[in-house]
Amino acid sequence: MGLATLNQPCEQVDPSRVVAAIRLAIGVSEDHAFQPLHVPHFEGAEWDYVKDCLDTGWVSSVGSYVEKFEEEVAAHSGVAHGVAVVNGTAALQIALQVVGVGLGDEVLVPALTFVATPNAASYLGAVPHFVDSDPATLGLDPTKLDAYLAEIGERSLEGLRNRQTGRRFGAIVPMHTYGHAVDMEPLIAVAARYGIPIVEDAAESLGSVYKGEKCGSLGRVAAISFNGNKIITTGGGGAIVTDDADLAARAKHLTTTAKVAHRWAFDHDAVGYNYRLPNLNAALGCAQLESLSSYVERKRSLAERYVSAFEVVQGVSVFRERCFGRANYWLNCLLLDEPSIETRDAVLEATNDSGLMTRPTWTLMSDLPIYAGAPAMPLDGARNIEARLINVPSSVPLGENPC
Ligand SMILES: Cc1ncc(COP(=O)(O)O)c(C=O)c1O
Repeated sequence: MGLATLNQPCEQVDPSRVVAAIRLAIGVSEDHAFQPLHVPHFEGAEWDYVKDCLDTGWVSSVGSYVEKFEEEVAAHSGVAHGVAVVNGTAALQIALQVVGVGLGDEVLVPALTFVATPNAASYLGAVPHFVDSDPATLGLDPTKLDAYLAEIGERSLEGLRNRQTGRRFGAIVPMHTYGHAVDMEPLIAVAARYGIPIVEDAAESLGSVYKGEKCGSLGRVAAISFNGNKIITTGGGGAIVTDDADLAARAKHLTTTAKVAHRWAFDHDAVGYNYRLPNLNAALGCAQLESLSSYVERKRSLAERYVSAFEVVQGVSVFRERCFGRANYWLNCLLLDEPSIETRDAVLEATNDSGLMTRPTWTLMSDLPIYAGAPAMPLDGARNIEARLINVPSSVPLGENPC
């Protein structure tokens, strides 16, 4: 590198160039309609399957689409069992419960996540303990977690405890941010060393892969979301997926009011939940799953278009999958270079004013007043991502607009 290059000032991003690059990537001209971050997309058998429910009257909590959906979600997640539930938050709550998380436990969750992740632990009377994220993956940082647990953990008969609070660590919850896999291999090693079960928050990563294995198959159990903003939707819905038949049976039981099977008697052997996914929603989900691989391909091609459109824009880059992952690119992410961090809100303003919906990532969970008192490790990586990341329009059909 010559001196001339070294002496060049670091340029900040020009918000108008971001607007132009997004338009180029998604193939719209200046007079385009408002472009949301993500819209549901229906192009297959959705009408037929939902009509079938209406025609036959099987619209509620029992029906053949529920079973079909459970089998197919499990297959798409690379595991043997699936339990369909009302939403991803409920799925996460029950996933934590079936691995044994309960009152007074601590659950290791990323500080950089959607609020449902720590909430699911709180519903069980457990305490979220916030872990740092790695800007290279956007997900939980296994190296830092390892060092942190060595420092604050102490082994006991019930498992690893936090020596400062005396509470047991009940689970580690890696979340595959915006469809990008956490570096799971070192995380699995840490979890195994300390005997802490992994519950994947795979809400955003249906269709993503880590070293050839599907996200959702990398821990003891995983939770998926089918909310309207996800890669596929059931309107609202979620699933618990696992290879463990006992965990799956327990999850099914708890999410169906813990009713003991009988032709007419109403007996319940635990405080269960009515978290069943209605047949109507499962029917929509069955049709959506048929399109999943094609949606992933279109999203991956949109990501490539973002990469090329932003190649010439100073001060910002497009986040790309790591060599170990094959992302579903649920939401595309821009990352501002350090000198451009102060322009983040100007970029958000210019893009939204131009009819292109963008938004920053979540406020760190540890900064929410509801979780201000929860334990947390130093969060430098998560703060770095929080300062730099901007989500851009990523709906499936944008991957096929003419450039
Ligand atoms: C990371 C993460 N976890 C959990 C959830 C909860 O899913 P749901 O909205 O279906 O309850 C979501 C999505 O909303 C999410 O993005």
